Amino acid sequence: MFNAEKFIEKTVSNLKKEIKGKALIAFSGGVDSAVAAALAEKAIGDQLVAVHVDTGYMRKGDSENVKKMMEKLGLNFRFIDAGSDYYDSLKNIEDPEKKRKIIGKKFIQIFEKVAGEENVECLVQGTIAPDWIESGDGLRDTIKSHHNVGGLPENMKLKLVEPLRDLYKDEVRKVARLLGLHISERQPFPGPGLAIRIIGAATKERTEIVREACDIVEKEIEDAVKKGKMEKPWQYFAVLIPVKTVGVHGDKRAYGYTIAIRAVQSIDAMTCSYSDISHSVLDNISTKLTNTLGDKINRIVYDVTNKPPGTVEWE
Ligand code: XMP
Repeated sequence: MFNAEKFIEKTVSNLKKEIKGKALIAFSGGVDSAVAAALAEKAIGDQLVAVHVDTGYMRKGDSENVKKMMEKLGLNFRFIDAGSDYYDSLKNIEDPEKKRKIIGKKFIQIFEKVAGEENVECLVQGTIAPDWIESGDGLRDTIKSHHNVGGLPENMKLKLVEPLRDLYKDEVRKVARLLGLHISERQPFPGPGLAIRIIGAATKERTEIVREACDIVEKEIEDAVKKGKMEKPWQYFAVLIPVKTVGVHGDKRAYGYTIAIRAVQSIDAMTCSYSDISHSVLDNISTKLTNTLGDKINRIVYDVTNKPPGTVEWE
């Protein structure tokens, strides 16, 4: 049985020894990075600099919420707007592993630059067990290079500190609750963000579509959960499939993308089963998506794949 109280005590004491001088933390605003930041802040106070990189692949409203959260946690922080840089680098990249590697590499370049400016030697990351297990570590097959693992260059100058490395998501949530973090129950969001929820090239145009689609899926599902129509999924979002089909909008022909709705039940993301969503809820989501996104999308499909053989994200 995981003891969150002991974990906090032990980790803060270890971090005090492990981190010399100032440290940076990659703060995405998710549960993992918020917990890692709160623990590091307890250990080294204002010697910690939280850095949030807006990659352009964040969810709707994410970056504003992240700013508020960093202020609330009393963190010393830097906010980096790197959207156009990311869109440029990924413009013609279709391969999921290449996308992940580029995103990871850019993250590190940004952090190394900030580290130089802030004169720090350590990088704290909220990597958790499934991230590195699925990234291979030389002992297992690489399922996907999680950007906070596989994207790190071998000659990285910063010392990497990963206080949550041995924890699974449910354990991280326990720690978050104990630390009083209001985002403790938030659904996971992958480091590479919406870029891996767009199959193929993650252009700005496609990103705007999937950002809106993810927001609609989240809101409609949360509304259905509130009304008791379904159990809250572990994770729920939209994926853009770059297959265009013919549709009719008003009395005009349209030729737009396909959106897949993904909702899964899981405990630690190592396996998952697709959520049992009623047709009336699916119908609400579908109508909202097509009404809002107009002729940009024409088809909505529901993903009924478990993991294995699928994975939670499509890339
Ligand atoms: P998969 O798609 O591998 O996802 O079944 C398992 C869980 O991990 C999340 N995920 C990531 N998280 N960096 C992360 O921090 C990543 O590169 C990454 N890729 C997937 C995914 O959302 C799910 O919760």
